[in-house]
Amino acid sequence: MRHLMSPLDFSTEELDRLFDLANDMEAHMDKYAHVCDGKKLATCFYEPSTRTRLSFEAAMLNLGGQVLGFSDAGSSSASKGESVSDTIRVISCYADICAMRHPKEGAPMVAASRSRIPVINAGDGGHQHPTQTLTDLLTIRSLKGRLSDLTIGLCGDLKFGRTVHSLIHALVRYENIHFIFISPEELKVPDYITDMLKEKKIPYKEVIRLEDSLPDLDLLYMTRVQRERFFNEEDYVRLKDFYILDKAKLTLAREDMLILHPLPRVNEISVEVDDDPRAMYFKQAQYGVYVRMALIYTLLGLDKKQA
Ligand code: NCD
Repeated sequence: MRHLMSPLDFSTEELDRLFDLANDMEAHMDKYAHVCDGKKLATCFYEPSTRTRLSFEAAMLNLGGQVLGFSDAGSSSASKGESVSDTIRVISCYADICAMRHPKEGAPMVAASRSRIPVINAGDGGHQHPTQTLTDLLTIRSLKGRLSDLTIGLCGDLKFGRTVHSLIHALVRYENIHFIFISPEELKVPDYITDMLKEKKIPYKEVIRLEDSLPDLDLLYMTRVQRERFFNEEDYVRLKDFYILDKAKLTLAREDMLILHPLPRVNEISVEVDDDPRAMYFKQAQYGVYVRMALIYTLLGLDKKQA
């Protein structure tokens, strides 16, 4: 049995197979409409989410399966003091696969160690968000045709943004990747990540101004300032509008630069940018459904069954 805790749990060859499957699912939805008939996905969300939870549910429904679960800790037995380990043992009796989001880093890992069904980490604190990374990689591969030879700007809250941390870890496995980290001093990418990049000799730059780097980018990954992970509101208010991507700034960027964002957006991308042909963040949310379909199918072992 296999779980998904980190994007590195899959080799790049396995990821290629997963993305091929996701593209095939996109092109031939009918073919997969009943492959999960009789199967159930439990979504155990101890932290708010719209996209991730609903895209997991949509993915399972598209495959013919059913969904059950809870969307906040307050409405689960966690509020009575139940441990994640006990909850997953019980959920293992009710469902075939589980997607879990938790504010504590490592909680889905604890669950996986006790589970009788595959567990997918749907975001653990400021740590990892592997299915968002799969979404991001599928989006880049589908729209750019490659995952190598890219200059990637990551902008915003690089300290607390778990999607950023997961994506960097996943991208370092591809050839000729250059990172430009664009953030205020207080929200710089954590040292453990820059240490890893130095060790692997992956080129990166840390800058404050977005405008200076825009002309060099194949891809701009914008992120929101993660209010819920700040210790005080004052710092959040000071930093929340540090970057606002608008039409005027975009004149500096290449015609084929992709603009991605894991969403939700707050102010960091002005709505006027939504109509720009480079704005791909809503399309990216759509890819999130296809990749989760492919993931559920694979973790349930249906790919092997078919083979
Ligand atoms: C991200 C998350 O939850 O970390 N959202 C998502 O999964 N689409 C990004 C965010 O909340 O800013």
